[in-house]
Amino acid sequence: MSVLHPVSRRQFVAGTAAVAASAFIPRKLFGAPASATQRVVVHTGSEIGLVRPEFHGHFIEHLGSCVYGGLWVGRNSQIPNINGYRKQSVEYLKALGIPVLRWPGGCFADDYHWRDGIGPAAKRPKRVNINWGNYIEDGSFGTHEFIGLCRLLDAQPYLAGNVGSSTPHELRDWIEYCNYPSGSTLSDERAANGSPEPFRVRYWGVGNESWGCGGNMRPEEYARLYRDFAVYCRDFGGTELFLVASGPSGDDTRWSRGLMDGLGWERPSGVSMHYYCGGADRSTTFTIDHMNEQLASYAKVEESIIHQRAVLDSYDKGKNVGLILDEWGVWDNIPEEDEKRYGKLWQQSTMRSAVAAGLGLNIFNRLADKLYMCNIAQMVNVLQSLLLTDGPEGEHCVRTTTYHAFSLFKAHRSKTALRVETEDSSPLGLSLSASKSDKELVVSFVNPRHDADLRVECTLEGCVAVGGTAQILHDADWNACNTFDNPDRAVPNAHPIKVNGSKIQLDLPALSVATAILPIH
Ligand code: AHR
Repeated sequence: MSVLHPVSRRQFVAGTAAVAASAFIPRKLFGAPASATQRVVVHTGSEIGLVRPEFHGHFIEHLGSCVYGGLWVGRNSQIPNINGYRKQSVEYLKALGIPVLRWPGGCFADDYHWRDGIGPAAKRPKRVNINWGNYIEDGSFGTHEFIGLCRLLDAQPYLAGNVGSSTPHELRDWIEYCNYPSGSTLSDERAANGSPEPFRVRYWGVGNESWGCGGNMRPEEYARLYRDFAVYCRDFGGTELFLVASGPSGDDTRWSRGLMDGLGWERPSGVSMHYYCGGADRSTTFTIDHMNEQLASYAKVEESIIHQRAVLDSYDKGKNVGLILDEWGVWDNIPEEDEKRYGKLWQQSTMRSAVAAGLGLNIFNRLADKLYMCNIAQMVNVLQSLLLTDGPEGEHCVRTTTYHAFSLFKAHRSKTALRVETEDSSPLGLSLSASKSDKELVVSFVNPRHDADLRVECTLEGCVAVGGTAQILHDADWNACNTFDNPDRAVPNAHPIKVNGSKIQLDLPALSVATAILPIH
């Protein structure tokens, strides 16, 4: 419990995995002495698997100023917008590339009825958002608006269905409304609402956190419900559904086994797990100890993915079930005054957060054969967001350090992940991952130490690099962040790298995330 700040019940539910994680953190957080040379090896002939672009997926919820204000300001807003979508957010996100986007929750999903968000906005019912502060939700951002956002961003839509307070029939109808080409009452209603073309939504979540806010169920109860819902979910118009069952909190194998046992012959396409790394301090005032504790908990994230994969693989046809890290990131201590000013769960992203993002993204590359998709929570104004606005009404929109960490990993997308070796496997040791295409090798490094500048000597076993460049995101102050007054304090910069055939060398200052891109023979 010690890593977590005083929490609300909801935060407690979300943070349980992180609490569990702290118990597993080995005493020895540090391996290398300060200012050490670290020798690492990239085995270019040893392939792990595809770095699916979906490892860089995102999640948005009707929570605080994420959807309303962060992304959707409405067509009549003074804030520059593209048909109601905040223009600056769209532009930044397009530049990054958003492979997949999950909506409408989160906890909100199991209290959402999709019919509340279609048809003329003025006629949409007003509902109380019982999960995130009992504010009035006017439904003005609904299915069409979400799909419109996905089209603008060129992102695959991922809809989270309501299992906790809905029926199989309601989910079945939403699928028909979205995907049936034409001629049925529901598909004609979609056309009348402005979208004659089907939305072709492939990814469907069957509930969210069904062990907690999504129904407070036991795994066998949820498995029974999953079967009831899934049996009525059908492929329409050639869109093959990818159904995602609600998986564990962190490394809760009791839930995963109970789920898989209860599913019988039914196998979902994916199982989701959620893993937040709790933080004891406000984002911008972290102590060294609390930062180290949080960053070290990423070792537990890696371990948990390996465990959860093993559980799925131990079942008949379990190997075909994709493991999805549906919500991940740092969940710091959020003071009430920040929430009042900017929106619920609004949290700054600092150099520490960027290092955390880099640790996560390196893990996904190294476990490329074990994962299907990973969605950071959340894209704008909530938890470890990529963009921050000064509240729902604010004009400013800044790219956070987490945005920039993601941009440093973009070059890995669709390449083949490679095995790597490091000298120091302690939780706060140098973190590394690599991937390649025919022509290019990409290597990412994260130095999570606040007190050690590292020199990295990297051997490329099995290939020769012909030149190369590197970019680094670094700030010696772990609490440094991009603010509305100083939006580009922490941004990636070109960084010196020595390339000599199969040897590369670069210096990684304390708290840095760097990527080298190397043309290869
Ligand atoms: O991302 C915030 C919340 O965390 C989500 O609504 C829920 O799924 C999780 O508990």
